[in-house]
Amino acid sequence: MCGIVGYIGKKRAVDIILKGLSHLEYRGYDSAGVALVSTDAAHIYKASGKLNNLKEIICLENKENISATAGIGHTRWATHGLPTETNAHPHTCNCGSLIIVHNGIIENYKDLKPELEKKGCNFKSQTDTEVAAHLIAHEFEEKKDLLKAVQSAVKKLKGAYAFSIMHKSCPEKIIAARKNAPLIIGIGDGENFIASDIPAIIEYTKKAIYVSDNQVAEVKADSVKIYDENGNLIENKIENLPFEPIALSKMGYKHFMLKEIHEQPDVVRNALVDKIKDENAAIILDDVKLSKEKLAKINRIQIIACGTSLHAGLVGKYVIEELTKIPVDVEASSEYIYRNTIADENTLVIGISQSGETADTITAIKQAKEKNSHILIITNRKDSAMARMADSLLPINAGIEVSVAATKSYMAQLLNIYCFAIYLAEHTKNPDVKAISDIKKELLTLPSKLEIILNDTKNIQNISKKYSNSKDFIFIARGINYPSALEGALKLKEISYINATGYPAGELKHGPIAMLDETMPVLAILNKGVVYDKVLSNCEEAKARQAKLIGVTNFIDEKHKNLFDDAVIIPEISDIVSPALNIVVLQLLAYHIAEYLGKDVDQPRNLAKSVTVE
Ligand code: AGP
Repeated sequence: MCGIVGYIGKKRAVDIILKGLSHLEYRGYDSAGVALVSTDAAHIYKASGKLNNLKEIICLENKENISATAGIGHTRWATHGLPTETNAHPHTCNCGSLIIVHNGIIENYKDLKPELEKKGCNFKSQTDTEVAAHLIAHEFEEKKDLLKAVQSAVKKLKGAYAFSIMHKSCPEKIIAARKNAPLIIGIGDGENFIASDIPAIIEYTKKAIYVSDNQVAEVKADSVKIYDENGNLIENKIENLPFEPIALSKMGYKHFMLKEIHEQPDVVRNALVDKIKDENAAIILDDVKLSKEKLAKINRIQIIACGTSLHAGLVGKYVIEELTKIPVDVEASSEYIYRNTIADENTLVIGISQSGETADTITAIKQAKEKNSHILIITNRKDSAMARMADSLLPINAGIEVSVAATKSYMAQLLNIYCFAIYLAEHTKNPDVKAISDIKKELLTLPSKLEIILNDTKNIQNISKKYSNSKDFIFIARGINYPSALEGALKLKEISYINATGYPAGELKHGPIAMLDETMPVLAILNKGVVYDKVLSNCEEAKARQAKLIGVTNFIDEKHKNLFDDAVIIPEISDIVSPALNIVVLQLLAYHIAEYLGKDVDQPRNLAKSVTVE
C-alpha cells in the first residue's frame, strides 16, 4: 500500500505532487508528506491524517519555499509505527540531505538498524523506511553519486519497495527503484513523473515506462535512464496509459462508491459484449490460452483470492461445479500459502484480484506456479504484477474503481467468472447445452434488471435509515447466495463499522441464533429456487426469536408477506445468476447506512485499496 509521486520539470512541483497524491489516497490515507527540492534547499512538510491536513499546512507556507520544480510525495498506510507526523514520509538521513519516500516493507530493517546506529545514525521514527534513508546516505558519502548509492544499498535490502529518492546536492535528479511494489515513470515534454499508479499522472501524460523488479531509474527533467540489477543501462518500452482522466470524477454523485454502484449495468454490458452474442452462439474468450488438450486434462480447480474477490470466487465454485462437474476449491490466499497445497500440472489455479497487487494472492500464485499448474488471472489491472504472472489473463475491464469498498469490480469479476464457467462447460465432453444456453440468456437480461433496482432506491434508503443505528447485523442465505451474504456483510462492516456477519442460513440454529432478539436485524436473501423454502424456514426460526427480518427476494407469496418487517423485491432471475442482482441491494444498503451515519464512505478507516503486504 502507500502511494508515491515524484515530479521533476518546469512547473511548481508541489501542485503536481499534491494532486497526484489525492488520486493515490485509495492506497492509504493515514498521513502524508512532500519534499520540495531546489538548489541546496529542501523543504519537507508532513501531516498526520488525510491529505487535506497536509494541504492546509502547505497553504500557509511562504511562496518561495514551495516554488521548487522538483520533489517527491507520499500518502501512507501505516505498517511500522503509528500514523503520526514523525512516522509520515519523506524520511531523511541525520543531516536531512538524503530524502526518501517508500511503498512496501523492508523486512530486514531490524538487522540493519544496529549497525547504522553504531555508525552514528540517529533514528527519529519507528518506520522501516528510515533504515533505507540512512543506508543510502552512507553509500552516498562513499560513492558521491546518488544512482550508485541507491544501486548499492538496494542489494542489502530484503522485502518490498518502490522508492523515490532525492539528495539536496543534486536536485536535478530523482532516483527511483522497485522490487515487488508498483512503480511507473510518466514521460512528459521537458518534465517527468514518478508514481505508484496511473491516476496520479494521467492528467499530465499518457506515456509511461513500467519499472520492473530490481530495476533502478535515474529520472531528470529531460531524460530517464533505467538500469538492471547488474547496473547495465537498459531500455524499457514506453507504453500508452489506458485511463481517461474522466474516470477520476464523481460525475455528480456524492461518493465514488455510489457512482460505481450505478455504473454496474454498463459494467455488465461491457463484460458480455464481445463474449456472448446470443444464447445459442458459442462463447468467445480469446484471452484464455488453454489448449483443447490441456482443457481435457483439468481435473481440479483452485480459486485463490482475498476479501470481495474471494466472495466472487465462492460464487465461481457453484457455477463451475454446476456447469462442468469439475471439483473447485476456494481458499483465502493467506491460508493457501505456507502449506503443502495439493496441485499439479492438471490443476487450474485461478487468482482473482481487482488490483492485481494483493501480496497474499501474489505469493499464493507464485506457490502454485512452482507446481506447474496453469495460472488464470482474473483482474481489473492488466498492467499489474499478477497479470504478468498469468498463463491466461481474463481482464475484467470494470474501469478504475476509486472507492475502497469494491462494488463494480465484484460485478465484473462475477460476470467474467460466469463467462469462464460457460467456456469450460462448452469444452467438456458432454456439455449440458440447455443449462448453458439458459444461463447465457439470463446474463443478457441482467443490465436491464440492474437498472430497475438502481432507478428506484427509495425503499432501500428507507430501510437503511431505519436500521442505521443497529449495533450488529446478520446476513443469511443458502447455496449460491451464501457468498452474497458474506459480501453484503463485508460491505456493511467496511464502510459503516457495524459488526455484520454472513452465515449459511442453515447454520443459524447451530449457534448464532443465541444472539437473536428484537435488537438484531437479520437480512435474508431468498431466491425462488431449490433452497427457497429452506431459507424461509430459517427466517421463521429467526422471527420466533423476535429478530427484525429484512427480506431480499424475487418472490413472496401472500402467506409469508407478514413474516418480514421489511422487504426489497428484486426482478425475476434464475437462481444461478441471482448473486449478480442481489448484491446491488446489499451494496446500496451498506452505502446508505454508512451515509446516514456520516462515515467516510470512500475512504473507510484503517483500510487501503491495494493490500500489498502479507
Ligand atoms: C473490498 O471491498 C475490500 N476493500 C477488500 O476486501 C478487497 O476485496 C481485498 O483486499 C482484495 O483486493 P484485490 O481484489 O485487489 O485483490
